[in-house]
Amino acid sequence: MVKIGNIELGEFPLLLAPMEDVSDPPFRQVCKENGADMMYTEFVSSEGLIRNAHKSVQKLDIFEYERPIGIQLFGSDVDTMAECTRIATGANPDLIDINYGCPVKKVACRGAGAALLQDVPLMTKMTEEVVKATHLPVTVKTRLGWDESTKNIEEVAERLQDVGIQALSIHGRTRAQLYKGEADWTLIAKVKNNPRIKIPIFGNGDIDSPEKALDYKNRFGVDGIMIGRAAIGYPWIFNEIKHFLATGEYLPAPTMEQRVAAARQHLKFSIQWKGDTLGMLEMRRHYSNYFRGLPHFKEYRMKLVQTLDKDELFETLDIVLKEFDGVVLESKAKVVEYGGAD
Ligand SMILES: Cc1cc2nc3c(=O)[nH]c(=O)nc-3n(C[C@H](O)[C@H](O)[C@H](O)COP(=O)(O)O)c2cc1C
Repeated sequence: MVKIGNIELGEFPLLLAPMEDVSDPPFRQVCKENGADMMYTEFVSSEGLIRNAHKSVQKLDIFEYERPIGIQLFGSDVDTMAECTRIATGANPDLIDINYGCPVKKVACRGAGAALLQDVPLMTKMTEEVVKATHLPVTVKTRLGWDESTKNIEEVAERLQDVGIQALSIHGRTRAQLYKGEADWTLIAKVKNNPRIKIPIFGNGDIDSPEKALDYKNRFGVDGIMIGRAAIGYPWIFNEIKHFLATGEYLPAPTMEQRVAAARQHLKFSIQWKGDTLGMLEMRRHYSNYFRGLPHFKEYRMKLVQTLDKDELFETLDIVLKEFDGVVLESKAKVVEYGGAD
């Protein structure tokens, strides 16, 4: 049984990765219903939170059915991070996660996210102060290192465990790699096999099918897997992997009815949580993912991304179901290309 503090996560948990502009409450709801064992919020800027910026405060919204859920924070200043840990703890999540993996310039070039991989003493100090600032378990998500010549994840894991983190998720790329190439899990396995490491180690990077999940579980011995891009538009990936790990068999691919239902639910919650206009606008990026691979979907996609009439949107989804009912797309998810934050 994998445990983080008192949180019991089962034998081999599947985690939904934190994803800026994606893993908000509407998206998390569809992932939770389809088997995600633990989830994280999008990253929350400590600078924004301390200034009470609306976007940062809104990211603290969590719901009972989402548990266990972690709020992820990032920042460059130790005191600000500690203060924000206290604020985030007040939102009553199950744990606090620190982001030491974000490669994008506006984060990493301001001394936050993956930049901390270049200053292990500061990273250790920041982590220690975050741990002290909350009664909740603290976890960390990071990368292998800053670049090819400075892959320091083995040292980082030991130092952070020593100051009290209770789990570590590792994305098998360096900051310099961004999302290029294939994630390398061999160093993740080394961290896991270090006899000094007692905390759960979750592997992350490029998992997009039940076979790959099983293969990587066996080859790299991690305690669980974190999935990001493959869940976008394909929340069924969690239950598909679970079923395959348990039985060696594939679940049937989601039907068109299930795809339309997931898109409807996502849209409905987006509208409810963000308000009509923003909810409809932000949902636009998701339609093509829910219907990936559907021939001639373009015509409907254009309708979905061009209107701001709520009724028309739901009607179009009904038409999609009528038009394509019975069509079965291949079951596998595919990692979507995103230049996204990290
Ligand atoms: C659109 C997008 C946004 C992301 N935002 C975050 C974030 O807020 N915090 C974080 O730790 N990682 C973030 N990531 C990185 C993912 O959590 C994950 O580490 C990465 O996508 C690799 O996993 P995957 O191959 O399963 O997608 C983001 C990735 C994407 C694609």
